[in-house]
Amino acid sequence: MINIAIDGPGGAGKSSVAKAVASRLGIIYVDTGALYRTVGYYVRKKNVDPHDADGVAALLPEINLEIKFEDGCQWVYLNGENLGDAIRTPEMSMYASAVSAIPAVRAFLLDAQRNIASKNSVIMDGRDIGTVILPNADVKIFMFASPEARARRRFDELQAKGQNVKFEDVLSEMNERDSNDRNRATAPAVPAEDAVMFDNSDVDLEGSIKYVIDLVLKKCGDKL
Ligand code: DC
Repeated sequence: MINIAIDGPGGAGKSSVAKAVASRLGIIYVDTGALYRTVGYYVRKKNVDPHDADGVAALLPEINLEIKFEDGCQWVYLNGENLGDAIRTPEMSMYASAVSAIPAVRAFLLDAQRNIASKNSVIMDGRDIGTVILPNADVKIFMFASPEARARRRFDELQAKGQNVKFEDVLSEMNERDSNDRNRATAPAVPAEDAVMFDNSDVDLEGSIKYVIDLVLKKCGDKL
């Protein structure tokens, strides 16, 4: 069994790369951001300020999250309902970032993430996978790119989904979210000491996939 941790800021291509690597290596891709997005979605639905730590913590007992894998895709069910792409909007990105700074939220989601990785070979992406969730991961990668390159990718992705957004707004929201995630007190989005740093500003998707697969094969190919 192997555990691969991919951390880094939004728009670095972590999820596209991890999804492809998982399918080529026959392991499970776990998108941990979806969990924070789902908590953010519930907080929004209940009209609670996502920065209000006590207000958000009080809602957690009402939340039942299930992570299901269907046809290689991960779906998060909130109290029995599959939220689908409703958690993928720019507004939900900001809600996810805000609630993710609350220690009670991180504690609430910790076991679910560790459980999946203890029972399956996984490639898990997020912000604190190599530092907090899976400190003993076989491979840790911190994937990043310039803010402009990342905003461009996120802009293209949102446009392809039919969401009407402006590049400048995507860039400024991305910078704000990065700063929140990097500077928070609990589990900040920083590289683990033993992470391999991968700047893919000038590397395309296929090149990034190849980079990760080569690294995994080199570090722990014998475990696959
Ligand atoms: O990866 P993403 O964009 O879907 O993540 C949404 C937010 O969730 C991100 O801004 C910070 C938070 N997050 C986190 O704090 N820790 C993780 N492991 C994954 C996401």
